[in-house]
Amino acid sequence: MSEWAMTLGRGASEIVRWTAAGHLHDALKDAPVADLEPLADSGWPEPLLHAPACAARLREDGVRDEELLLGITYHSTGHPEFGLLGEYLYMADFLDPGRRFLAPEREALRERLPGDREAVLLEVLRHRITSLLDHGALVLPASLLLWNRVVTS
Ligand SMILES: [Fe+2]
Repeated sequence: MSEWAMTLGRGASEIVRWTAAGHLHDALKDAPVADLEPLADSGWPEPLLHAPACAARLREDGVRDEELLLGITYHSTGHPEFGLLGEYLYMADFLDPGRRFLAPEREALRERLPGDREAVLLEVLRHRITSLLDHGALVLPASLLLWNRVVTS
């Protein structure tokens, strides 16, 4: 996130925000579900609870950066109101080199960033949504709304 922010010529405070988003978004990833549930709204699948719970905790701690909080809340699903920070965090999460699945495909997508934002964002959305469909899993409306926003922009 830091490198992308710098390459895109974002200002110093933006680089700090993007870096913070990268460091913080999975801060509660290993927390017990019982600790996360009270922090998140209902309707979140268990594997994703860490995201809204992290944003809620940051809000409790005084963070008022709504774009940052939205990006963290929806970093695994996408959200139609994402700005650049949210979009890049969503892509960074999927394209994390530490993950093993689809390694060649994801490396190729990483190499196109940060320049080819819209096309890569659609590819990441397509991978994530079709994987959920293939597994008969819940697709949150926010994911489809982001897809629809990007394909019609
Ligand atoms: Fe996450």
